[in-house]
Amino acid sequence: MLAAKRTSTFTESVIREMTRIANQHEAINLAQGFPDFPMPEPMKEAACAAINGDINQYAITWGSTALRLAIAEKYRRWYGMDVDADREVTVTCGATEAMASVFLALVDPGDEVIVLEPFYENYGPDAILAGASPVFVPLERPNWTLDTARLRKAFTKRTKAIIVNTPHNPTGRVLTTEEMGLIAELCERYGAWVVTDEIYEHIRYAGDHIVMATTPGMRERTITISGLSKTFSCTGWRLGYAIAPAEQTAAIRKVHDFLTVGAPAPLQVAGAVGMHFDADYFNHLAMDYRGRRTVLVDALKAAGFEFSVPDGAYYILADFSKLSNRDDVEFAKWMTKEVGVATVPGSSFYHERALGRKLVRFAFCKKLETLRRAAARLETLTEHL
Ligand SMILES: Cc1ncc(COP(=O)(O)O)c(C=O)c1O
Repeated sequence: MLAAKRTSTFTESVIREMTRIANQHEAINLAQGFPDFPMPEPMKEAACAAINGDINQYAITWGSTALRLAIAEKYRRWYGMDVDADREVTVTCGATEAMASVFLALVDPGDEVIVLEPFYENYGPDAILAGASPVFVPLERPNWTLDTARLRKAFTKRTKAIIVNTPHNPTGRVLTTEEMGLIAELCERYGAWVVTDEIYEHIRYAGDHIVMATTPGMRERTITISGLSKTFSCTGWRLGYAIAPAEQTAAIRKVHDFLTVGAPAPLQVAGAVGMHFDADYFNHLAMDYRGRRTVLVDALKAAGFEFSVPDGAYYILADFSKLSNRDDVEFAKWMTKEVGVATVPGSSFYHERALGRKLVRFAFCKKLETLRRAAARLETLTEHL
């Protein structure tokens, strides 16, 4: 029996394939965006205490009261944003499920959804699951600036939403006040939603994090998505959330209920502990990432890659044209086997794969010692060419 047509364009994640090859060749895995260092101790202890304390049954489907209150409190503290924990927050199984639930709840077949390109590879399948058509607008090299003329052209009366991911995976761009202002203006003019993906909000080296929902006039047309995976280095916990006006939250909660029933109850207890951490924790997170960024930036420059230094998130999307005539997939596989450093081929981040043919993405969410070992291997890259 054949699989449903909607799955026919889904490919197995190239990132996972690269991880498999990396394991085979004992390469250092700078492909996948998960940390190789531990998450905060107090959260681990809270999770164990919750399990031992028998918080092991379904939580409220849209999230435990404690976690929703902690999320609302954090938005007030960090962004001066009023969030109603009872009516505006849905806790999900990661930002990934939040995005899928939001799409299924708010987007109809035939609607258009604008996606900035290159993009995090889940957005395309999310759009397809909802029957929507993605419309791509480029971030232009060398500095991945938003092509504002193309953005203006992309908006039509069929535009239902735009996905705004800042800080951005895979480029490291942090969108400016002007860029966010233009997106807001166009969404107001065309009656479109902004769906943000703010999963890297606390991993920034330059520029302010602008929460679209706090931009004047945008609270009522913004769905704010974020999660705990990156901020608390716990990608395996699968905790994320969507903040939306009450009416849209009601729809998102229904989809979320049918998809997953709820996020893991004991981990939600521990998630609330993290959301209450003071500013020190969040500032240190960014400082530690700055150190990791320096190691990888220096290594890639010395090896002959060309790239713009990321202002946020923990990736570098680098051009290898000066190093090899191979395409991105061949180059990434070659580098994994010969040099022992795994990356993600750039074409994974483009709908027209040719646009990423000379790019590979490095992730630096790794211990300094891991990155230093990778740097030592990258020093030998030209000898292998
Ligand atoms: C832009 C972006 N959004 C979402 C996710 C996944 O988040 P979660 O672990 O909360 O599902 C990632 C993970 O790499 C990401 O890069």
